[in-house]
Amino acid sequence: ATYASAPEKPCSSITPPYAALLDNLTKIRKRLNRPLTLAEKILYSHLYDPDNGIGGGGIQRGATYLQLQPERVAMQDASAQMALLQFMSAGLDRTAVPTSIHCDHLIQASTGADADLQRSIASNQEVFDFLESAAKKYGIEFWRPGSGIIHQIVLENYAAPGMLMLGTDSHTPNAGGLGMLAIGVGGADAVDAMTGTPWELKAPHVVGIHVTGKLNDWATPKDLILYLAGKLTVKGGTGRILEYFGPGILSQSCTGLATIANMGAEVGATTSTFPYTPRMQAYLHATRRGSVARAADEAAAKGFLSADAGAEYDELIEIDLSSIEPTINGPFTPDLATPLSKFASFVQENGWEDRISASLIGSCTNSSYEDMTRVADLAQQARAAGLSSKVPFLCTPGSEQIRATMERDKITGALEDVGAVVLANACGPCIGQWKREDTKEGANAILTSFNRNFKSRNDGNGLTMNFLASPTIVTAMAFSGKLSFNPVTDSLKLPSGESFKFNPPSGEDLPSSGFALGDITYQPTPVPDPQPETEVIIREDSQRLEGLEPFPSHFKNDSILELPQMKVLMRVRGKCTTDHISAAGPWLKYKGHLSNISENLLITAVNDENGEVNVAFDHDHERTQPAVDTIPGVAKKFRERGQPWALIVDENYGEGSAREHAALQPRFYGCAMIIARSFARIHETNLKKQGVLPLWFADKNDYGRIGSGAVIQTIGVHDLVLGNPDATVRVKVTTPAGESFEISTKHTMSSDQLKWLRAGSALNHIRSQLGK
Ligand code: F3S
Repeated sequence: ATYASAPEKPCSSITPPYAALLDNLTKIRKRLNRPLTLAEKILYSHLYDPDNGIGGGGIQRGATYLQLQPERVAMQDASAQMALLQFMSAGLDRTAVPTSIHCDHLIQASTGADADLQRSIASNQEVFDFLESAAKKYGIEFWRPGSGIIHQIVLENYAAPGMLMLGTDSHTPNAGGLGMLAIGVGGADAVDAMTGTPWELKAPHVVGIHVTGKLNDWATPKDLILYLAGKLTVKGGTGRILEYFGPGILSQSCTGLATIANMGAEVGATTSTFPYTPRMQAYLHATRRGSVARAADEAAAKGFLSADAGAEYDELIEIDLSSIEPTINGPFTPDLATPLSKFASFVQENGWEDRISASLIGSCTNSSYEDMTRVADLAQQARAAGLSSKVPFLCTPGSEQIRATMERDKITGALEDVGAVVLANACGPCIGQWKREDTKEGANAILTSFNRNFKSRNDGNGLTMNFLASPTIVTAMAFSGKLSFNPVTDSLKLPSGESFKFNPPSGEDLPSSGFALGDITYQPTPVPDPQPETEVIIREDSQRLEGLEPFPSHFKNDSILELPQMKVLMRVRGKCTTDHISAAGPWLKYKGHLSNISENLLITAVNDENGEVNVAFDHDHERTQPAVDTIPGVAKKFRERGQPWALIVDENYGEGSAREHAALQPRFYGCAMIIARSFARIHETNLKKQGVLPLWFADKNDYGRIGSGAVIQTIGVHDLVLGNPDATVRVKVTTPAGESFEISTKHTMSSDQLKWLRAGSALNHIRSQLGK
């Protein structure tokens, strides 16, 4: 089937409710009485209660907490497991907003699409069965393995200008390419939207990025974001939305804008967005969503889909596209940006071997039709000159639609002719699902068109240097096999002795004969009716999935609203990211099994009492000296004894990601409170959601006064929980030697969050609100 013959998609579940959004916006405008950025318009029009929801002080960017109502949720197969287990324990019979599940992360790349897919389905069968049965029961759209990568499918099917959606994956902002706000969150946040509970976000700062000029021949939207990552660094976008505007945006394809939005995640941005453009409109038509385009046209005419004249940004960045050159970022961090013209000397200065060991294109970041036609053009030029790839050359299409269109338009053939292997429509090597056979352990360099390049991410080898570049640069360099080759200026020697130089690549952003749909059985029914009689499949002896028991409230009854007496498990020293608290890698397979994944609790954290990693002291042991064990080992013993416990932690505890397992796991073992010198905001919220009280030292010097085995008791939580969020909490500490003292603390609990604490978790609170 092609675009010409395929019918339009039904529009009811995929068109934002523009009339209602505009109505909300009018109410908010009256209150704020100032020009608004596009990001603000989209956020504020999705306020849960636009009449009363912003309080007397209006909305201060960077300060006010917004209660929002996202329109849609998308989840990938790894993170969907815990999100669904939490949703199931809320007791609803359907999701409150349209929701989709995408099976993409669990597909391992090895020999090629078909064999890889079959093998991965077999080895993850119970997880896919669980996801599919839960989808059926609750009316969720289920995109089965092989259908494509979450963000490409969202862009092709669900994204729409002005929409607000949540996704349980950090590259969810990819959908910003269609002029919307798409935000990556943890499962507990997704559950807020899925249960119709207001989702809370501190109003982000908005950075304006004014884009002028035109990209040169070899430069692509990927190069713009690679360049910007170098400027902003991996922290530069934290708590901020990147809002692009200006004439330079109009010359970019919708999918090119999606690439830019995708990698906003690399600078830590909340999300990225763009005003609605004619090329977004064309993309909506090409993906059979003419009705969405027409509705968006009307909303745009009413001023919804772009910033107001005079809107103020918290920072303004100017970019002239004509000054952007192809850029290569890495190794090991996405913000180490080197212009292509300087890359050869960068490699030489570092003493790295001038050799590429593999080239990889595609992924959610760069597998659009435009990307693929441009790389096919280079492949055809090389083939005509008698060249083929010098290194293993792998391509992951983003979706079945892209794969089928590539095949029909002879792009796949052009790539295979020069030695490429086209893998399954899935994440594969981008998420470490790469059974790499071409190189043994050891230092080596790969070039990819992906978005992340942290150590060990792709092949599990910490010495593999992953350099990020545009798909065209990755492809052209594969024909040389050398890091020092600059396809813009250099020639290659042909066997005949002649030299060959690439012409700048050309491509089309949309297929002239429309997209081929490929195997349409991959496409789920839009918003299917829930089938309540469906049994959600969790095998009793499963090592990968486990039902979630609600966490009990810490409070025995309503007259004693202090936390129970706690033991301090340990004092954590220095940097402790969500990776230290809940490691990934081999533990990924236990994402749906809280008991099993909890075995990794804090296993790379440093104990401040002896400077060692993964060592804790059990002062309850029946010996004169405390017993020494691993951190999860002691936590498990506390759980068995019913001993509530607390952690003492350092600065910016829980930085890194929204990984909710980092909050679920300590809670699972009985952690009731964490006292920090400071918290990373998202993790602090995740702790609150799971019913763990985060407190901040009023005097940071108190950190060193409390060690393992100390008994601690809160004083003042009672007043806090009874509705006085300004109450202060003191903590009485009794050391193992019997010394007693009190310390002061601060907190950031809002009155809503105190309800979560009282109920034992946000989910318990939601359940009681729903009368379940
Ligand atoms: Fe998948 Fe890599 Fe994108 S893991 S979602 S292809 S960032």
